[in-house]
Amino acid sequence: MTIRSVPGSEGHQLRRAVCPGSFDPITNGHLDIIARASKLYDVVHVAVMINKSKSGLFAVDERIELIRQVTAEFGNVEVESFHGLLVDFCKQRDIPAIVKGLRAVSDFDYELQMAQMNNGLSGVETLFVPTNPTYSFLSSSLVKEVAAWGGDVAHLVPPVVLEALTERLAKER
Ligand SMILES: Nc1ncnc2c1ncn2[C@@H]1O[C@H](COP(=O)(O)OP(=O)(O)OP(=O)(O)O)[C@@H](O)[C@H]1O
Ligand SMILES: [Mg+2]
Repeated sequence: MTIRSVPGSEGHQLRRAVCPGSFDPITNGHLDIIARASKLYDVVHVAVMINKSKSGLFAVDERIELIRQVTAEFGNVEVESFHGLLVDFCKQRDIPAIVKGLRAVSDFDYELQMAQMNNGLSGVETLFVPTNPTYSFLSSSLVKEVAAWGGDVAHLVPPVVLEALTERLAKER
């Protein structure tokens, strides 16, 4: 029996995946998914979505800087912003796979729709990683809301993010 080589594994061709999101700011839930993807792929691109109609708590450049700091230890994560279609981002960088975390069934309908749309548009595959149960309730919005009311979010975000969040919310008060 001949074993076919796995496409993408031949010598020089790096296997790439993208983790897209708004990351306003990055949470331990995002970080867990990126860390797991970074073990499965040679290069993980983190794509920070630019949403012109939504300003966010942190500017896109600030989000990128925070993600860079907390993913530096993985050694194979590249962080960039993007606007437009995710499938175009993938095409331009030869990325065949999108990796997304699935928190609960509430994520599923929308994620399934997007995955099918993206696959139909360009053939890109979406792989779902089940959330670490510790973070299944966690979102950037919830972190911002809890922190804004003085709640403790130290266990939900990396220390540099906590610091940035505390500083930003103090300014906004
Ligand atoms: N707690 C989490 N566990 C696993 N994956 C997550 C978690 N939070 C977000 N993700 C993943 O990150 C992707 C990008 O999410 P997004 O930027 O919308 O983050 P969010 O935390 O849901 O923020 P927001 O509250 O602004 O919607 C999601 O599609 C999901 O795959
Ligand atoms: Mg979300």
